[in-house]
Amino acid sequence: MSTTPPSLFDLTDRVIVVTGATGVLAGSAARYLAAQGARVVFLGRDQTKLNAALADTAGLAGETAAFACDVLDRPALEHTRDTILARWGRIDALVNAAGGNQPGATIPPDKSFFDLDLAAYRQVLALNLEGTVLPSQIFATALVAQKRGVIINFSSMAAARAITRVIGYSNAKAAIDNFTRWLAVEFATKYGDGLRVNSVAPGFFVADQNRRLLLNENGTPTARGQAVIDQTPFRRFGQTPELHGTLHYLLSDASAFVTGTVIPVDGGFSCFSGV
Ligand SMILES: NC(=O)c1ccc[n+]([C@@H]2O[C@H](COP(=O)([O-])OP(=O)(O)OC[C@H]3O[C@@H](n4cnc5c(N)ncnc54)[C@H](OP(=O)(O)O)[C@@H]3O)[C@@H](O)[C@H]2O)c1
Repeated sequence: MSTTPPSLFDLTDRVIVVTGATGVLAGSAARYLAAQGARVVFLGRDQTKLNAALADTAGLAGETAAFACDVLDRPALEHTRDTILARWGRIDALVNAAGGNQPGATIPPDKSFFDLDLAAYRQVLALNLEGTVLPSQIFATALVAQKRGVIINFSSMAAARAITRVIGYSNAKAAIDNFTRWLAVEFATKYGDGLRVNSVAPGFFVADQNRRLLLNENGTPTARGQAVIDQTPFRRFGQTPELHGTLHYLLSDASAFVTGTVIPVDGGFSCFSGV
């Protein structure tokens, strides 16, 4: 009698924690993962948005849960982890998608580097970098205990090449690339090859945090949005579902020998010289 081996891409019943799951990219990804049969935990700060996100998962194959939890709040993260473990007994993956920018941590055209607001700069570093490191510290205790699990961080096109104006966010995302490689090595060398840490680097997807930068109110690209499109060989912004496949691959056993990588999902933005 022949038995079919499980698919390399099978995510059935995997317990996957997604931060920033009330946002555009991670919300869509979390719904997709639930549709694949994973048990998906939505994390965000706003209970109303979380309720709406959970309502959207009704009827999908996988179970879902939601917790209001700031990624910089250690006790809230620990409580969330313990509640998940009490319910499902394990945590298989953490997707660190919470992040974003704020105006004070950028340099507008009429200002210079010397005007940078250090308080806003620190807040953006904290949200993006510490907001990735701290949840990893808390949730990965479960992965390490199991000697198996996956972390996916969210990098950006701003990490490897300079994007004008965007200083704080770019510095934080560059540090996330470094953290991804560092933690991949730390976990593999200390706890074995069941633990993997990778990043996705989305190109330009229209979301809440960048909509006004990329699009005019009538939906046409701003001058900056058009500059992005001109630098993107696909000549368009990304569509949110175009991130799902890369996340699925990195979460599944299909990427069992892949760790410490940063995968661009960018329509060619990062490889294009502009000529
Ligand atoms: N869109 C793009 O083109 C693009 C490109 C490259 C990288 N990224 C990265 O992709 C990730 C998702 O971005 P997005 O574009 O989907 O942004 P988004 O729609 O603005 O979503 C951001 C998410 O982060 C959450 N968040 C913010 N501060 C938080 C905190 N202190 N604690 C917990 N959650 C917090 C927000 O939750 P609340 O509801 O609580 O505010 C929201 O769920 C981010 O890391 C972003 O930097 C995006």
